[in-house]
Amino acid sequence: MFNQVTQNILRELATGDFCSGEQLGEANGVSRAAIGKHIQALVQLGLDIYSVTGKGYRLSAPVELLDVEAIKSAQDVALPSPVVVESVIDSTNNWVKQQISSGALNNSPSGTTVFSEAQTAGRGRRGKQWVSPLGASLYLSTHWRFEQGISATSGLSLVVGIAIVEALTELGVPNLGLKWPNDVYYQGRKLAGILVELEGQGSDSCDIIIGAGINVHLPESVTQDIDQPYADIHEVGLSLSRNHIAGRILSHLIKLLNEFELSGFSAFVERWHQHDCFIGQHVQLQMGQRQVTGIAKGVDTQGGLLLEVDQQIQSFFGGEISLRKLSS
Ligand code: BTN
Repeated sequence: MFNQVTQNILRELATGDFCSGEQLGEANGVSRAAIGKHIQALVQLGLDIYSVTGKGYRLSAPVELLDVEAIKSAQDVALPSPVVVESVIDSTNNWVKQQISSGALNNSPSGTTVFSEAQTAGRGRRGKQWVSPLGASLYLSTHWRFEQGISATSGLSLVVGIAIVEALTELGVPNLGLKWPNDVYYQGRKLAGILVELEGQGSDSCDIIIGAGINVHLPESVTQDIDQPYADIHEVGLSLSRNHIAGRILSHLIKLLNEFELSGFSAFVERWHQHDCFIGQHVQLQMGQRQVTGIAKGVDTQGGLLLEVDQQIQSFFGGEISLRKLSS
């Protein structure tokens, strides 16, 4: 359940002030019991709400809700297409997919972007769930059309990682790194993930959905659902506006996607190497049941992983690849 009343309550609570159940009920024309149900729905979505008798409901910390104008005001590139903010949807990647399949983006230039405050079915790579609590992180998806077809997208997801690292570095976040093919790390823990999907491949052009999840301030209540070491921007200790982070990431993303469309991945190899946190290390590469060990040597001009195996450099691609540090 997430409707206009839930949205109104969310806006009131976001300030961080106490909100009385009675006043919320009166303002929305519903009973206090109904307000209680909306509060439960918000808790289910990951908000940390507590109540004090005689005072009402309050968030453990104020939440800066996303706002299209605030996101746009952080741009230094002309945004070619609409930016949309949703409250709760299943997945921002699904939202873009639906726009593509309904034909709504047929005549739009690339760049339509949706952010959502929460996702009920956020997807990670390899069929994993992406934990997406409300107001706690950033979940965004951008549509991009490649007129030359899928062959022109080689290395794309690596470029998205570079865009996120460059945006966050500019905002003062230190010690960021990239793990092939597209995880953003902070001090050896995952801060952001990227899911690039292809929709309805035509013979010529193709539509790509570029999804990214960036941990901003994960509540304790969801962290047990995350199956790997994680980090968030909050722990860095900087006081950053969520809208500003969203806007700067979008700005870097649009700029780099335009560059990528013109020059392909070869123009980004050096930038990737600057942030590659596995380069020179002994690593293990997992491709389904197959494992390869070797020394990470960065990436090639197509975005493939270069591994030195038995003194020979080999290049690896593929969706099922994972990279792990060996203990020795
Ligand atoms: C990964 O497994 O590292 C990829 C995570 C990608 C998560 C983002 S959140 C926004 C977009 N919508 C989704 O359902 N997934 C991506």
